[in-house]
Amino acid sequence: MARIIDWFEERLGLKDTLGPSMSHAVPSSAKWWYVFGSMTLMLFMLQIMTGICLALVYVPSADEAYASLEYLNYDQTMGWFLRALHVWGSHLMIAMMSIHMIQVFLFGAFKYPRELTWIVGVLLFVCTLGMGFTGQVLRWDQDAYWGMGVGMAMAGRVPFIGPGLVQFVLGGPIIGGESLSRFFALHVFVLPGSLIALIGVHLLLVIKCGINETPTPGVLVDKKTYRETYEREVHKRGMPFFPNAAGRDMIACGLVLGLLFTCAMLFGPAGPNGKPDPMLIHTAPRPDFWFQSIFAVLALLPPYMETFLIIGFPVLAAGVLIMLPFLSGDGEKHWRRRPISVLFVVFLMVCLGGLTYLAYKAPWSPVMQAWSGIPTPVQYVQGRSPLELQGAMVVQNKQCRNCHALDGRGGHRGPALDDVATRLNADQIIRQVIQGGGNMPAYGKHLTPSETTAVTAFLMTLHGQNMHEEASGFSMTPRPTQQDVPPFFPERIDAY
Ligand code: HEC
Repeated sequence: MARIIDWFEERLGLKDTLGPSMSHAVPSSAKWWYVFGSMTLMLFMLQIMTGICLALVYVPSADEAYASLEYLNYDQTMGWFLRALHVWGSHLMIAMMSIHMIQVFLFGAFKYPRELTWIVGVLLFVCTLGMGFTGQVLRWDQDAYWGMGVGMAMAGRVPFIGPGLVQFVLGGPIIGGESLSRFFALHVFVLPGSLIALIGVHLLLVIKCGINETPTPGVLVDKKTYRETYEREVHKRGMPFFPNAAGRDMIACGLVLGLLFTCAMLFGPAGPNGKPDPMLIHTAPRPDFWFQSIFAVLALLPPYMETFLIIGFPVLAAGVLIMLPFLSGDGEKHWRRRPISVLFVVFLMVCLGGLTYLAYKAPWSPVMQAWSGIPTPVQYVQGRSPLELQGAMVVQNKQCRNCHALDGRGGHRGPALDDVATRLNADQIIRQVIQGGGNMPAYGKHLTPSETTAVTAFLMTLHGQNMHEEASGFSMTPRPTQQDVPPFFPERIDAY
């Protein structure tokens, strides 16, 4: 055994390369707060392993992706568990990475001389979010489809290059098979490759610049003397990385492994939930949790702010993160003496938490609440033919008034319908109802042809002021006279 090891050692000389990085001294004050980076790294390596296993089965084609995931979920032994490990691994990786970043920020570890370590870390974070997004798309289900749609709608707003960028990422003007191939290439080659390279640089920098000492309030970073003091202190009071710090890292990694297996076992894989079908509007697509806050912002934002926030905010955030070590590269490190930094972190947490909470409540398509069960005003149904009355029932039951007012009451998302007959003819109304458009859902699949006929007949009677006027010629039954129309009880419609 020893001879084999020596044979390799003679050629590789690992003792000289790895030895020092294992035994290099780290500040003895670096304790449990310092384990999150290693946890992230361990989760990443696990992601690579589960990812490779998944890639053995997954088919990155629009036709078969969904089926191959269902195969994993239901047919392949432990396939569901593999998928669960991969998705929960990604959740935990993003969570651990965020904690690591916040810890580094609050401990002032981004200050001189570790600026580059921080910047590479920010790039790692961006790539990891990219992995999350592309991975979610590979699921190729409703969430994936709409997530991609929203992502691309955001990308399309980038000035000048937006449309070209969307075309490039999607591999065409629409979301299709080519898009899936591109996201697959991003998810398994481009982004992991970048991550591995960046992690290499990041670790090299960690070794070269040393692990940040736990800051003491009042001890300032002075660019002239910092390195010298650090080296002196670390040699005097530090301890070798292995086994002390490494041991803590391993315990932490074991814990997060346990957490990962528990989550995977308890909650299982994510989706796939429903084939992607742009025709289905009665779906409530949701991004994975780390994008929930963005989702909420998009859902709740007043439209005139969208472009600024969608394009401006990420650029601003990335810019601030990258510039951070240059904006405050020296001075106080301890969080107790950096109230603005602490406030900033608290503010960020509250915002993200609040938005994530809202995202779970924010309606994607309008929630049809009972309030629009307000009865159709009686003058709108008086003297109508049975067919037209049936149409009034459709308006009532399908809750069109969530978005359309009658007699000033009802939603204002769409135009009031009091005088719709003066604006549109029957064909146009049918088209609008069946196909939707302009922010109105398509009702084609949710109305029978006779309901569509009826609702059109009813809407064609709405001429504005003249509510008791002759109804349209669209009616299929002979016009009843005023006398033989039974009194109409709006309450009945309500009860119905
Ligand atoms: C989610 C909200 C919403 C719901 C629910 C809704 N609509 Fe609409 N509707 C709209 C919007 C928004 C427009 C405007 C479309 C446009 O500007 O192109 C519209 C337009 C219309 C128009 C054309 C009006 C005009 O003057 O141009 C008709 C007719 C119509 N809707 C009928 C209906 C009927 C019937 C129902 C129920 C089956 C319904 N709508 C349900 C949002 C809605």
